[in-house]
This record gives sequence, C-alpha cells and structure tokens, in this order.
Amino acid sequence: MTVANTAAPYPIQAETVAPLLGAAAGRIDLHVVAECDSTNLQLQHMAKAGAASGTVLLAEHQTAGRGRRGREWHQGSQSLAFSLLWRLPDDRAPTGLSLAIGLAVAEALHAGAQLKWPNDILLNGRKIAGILIESAAAQRYIIGIGINLGDTDDLPTELQHTATALDVPTDKNVLFAHLLDQLVLILDRFSAQGFAGLRARWQARHAYQDRAVNLLFSEGSTPLQGLCRGVDSQGELLLETPTGMQSISSGEVSLRLQ
Ligand code: BTN
Repeated sequence: MTVANTAAPYPIQAETVAPLLGAAAGRIDLHVVAECDSTNLQLQHMAKAGAASGTVLLAEHQTAGRGRRGREWHQGSQSLAFSLLWRLPDDRAPTGLSLAIGLAVAEALHAGAQLKWPNDILLNGRKIAGILIESAAAQRYIIGIGINLGDTDDLPTELQHTATALDVPTDKNVLFAHLLDQLVLILDRFSAQGFAGLRARWQARHAYQDRAVNLLFSEGSTPLQGLCRGVDSQGELLLETPTGMQSISSGEVSLRLQ
C-alpha cells in the first residue's frame, strides 16, 4: 500500500489501516486528506491522471459533499466519507453495483443494518449511510460512501428525524479496514457473478420487504403505489401494483413507506 497521508492528526491513517487489512491487503492504495470539496470529485481527477483501480480517497471533512439526486451530502464531524476507484471486468455490466455496495457497507457496519432500495443503509429505520456511484471511464467507477458516526447534532435540522449515527468505535481504523475488506470481497463476487450472486444476502437485509410503499419519480409527481416485493437478480425493484408486478430500474426515484 502506498502511504499518502497529508491530513492533520486524524484517527484514520493509511499506515495504521494497512496492517489491519485482510482481503483488501495489497488491493487498496489509501490516501487520507484533512479536507477537500468532494472525495468523489477529487478521485475523478485522480482517475483522469491515471490512478489505479483500488485507489481510495478519504477526507476528514468535505466542503461540497455530493449526495444522490443532485443533493448535498452533510458530513458530521466524526463521520466517514471516502471514495473508491474500482475497475470491473470488461464483460461485467454495472447493473446492481450500487446495491452490492450497499450490502457490503451494511454487512460491515452492523448486524442490524438494513437496506432500502436502491442503496440507502438504515439502522432502526433511519439512514446511517449513503452511496453515490459515478462513472469514471470505461468499466471504472467512483464508489462514494458516507457513513454517519457519532451523533446527528451537526446535521441540518431537516435530516435529524430521518438520519441516525453509529457510535464512534474505539478505533476507527479497525472499522475502516473491515469496511475495505468487505468492499473488496463483495466487488470480487460482483465481478464474477454480478448482482445475482449477492441477491439472497441483499434480500435478507431488505428493510421494506412486503411493505406498502409509494414510489415517486419526481418531487410532487403522483406516486406509484404498491407492495415492495424485493429485488430481482439484476437489482431491479419489484413492486406489486393493482395492475401487476412492475420492475423499477432507475435509482433516481424516491421510495417511501405509505
Ligand atoms: C446519498 O445521497 O445518499 C449518497 C451520499 C454519498 C456521500 C459520499 S461521502 C463520500 C463521497 N463523496 C461525495 O461527495 N459523496 C460521497
């Protein structure tokens, strides 16, 4: 692992994480910075400049963290924000990749963590982590992950009733190394088998299984109503509606319990 730690003293350090790695050992090149606008954006620049698959950029603080659907991502002072550059094999489509990453994060974080399609991670019904995947170049993806740690007091008021945070672990390096291991294991499985090889594990953590939901394609639009029947082997959401089963592929929708 290349050590590139330009941050002020901060609990996560590349040289501390390296010996803790299992499956990710030798597969990850971790860079830690005190601050940047968005780790997704900076990793895009690094990818354009030739960064290899496995490059990770972690920032203690982001000034312009990006969320899904053009939203801002607010990061608490103890929270984790990082991005991973990963290359998929030429014959592997990215269909279901964001669900696979959600699964990796949920499994690494907490036995009780659940998944809300397409890729929110919930604990006790509240959002604990979010994922934003952006394309970098052919078969190369920027996988951005934000995890709430500590408390939600420093999040905007409107998020405080929908978000939650994990207790800060004694050593964040251990948690982070575990996360990287889990990501590598899941990405290897995804590369070999696609989402089909992970579907059963995703289903086991599905927060809204058989619940009545509203699906909104844009703010203020008439919701599509139905029973949430999980996901298929491509990671499409299966919604049982009065007119039959519908599969929803776009992640650019909002899913809410009725
Ligand atoms: C969401 O809206 O749920 C996705 C949030 C993704 C946030 C992470 S934090 C690290 C990475 N860098 C960004 O700018 N966004 C992602």
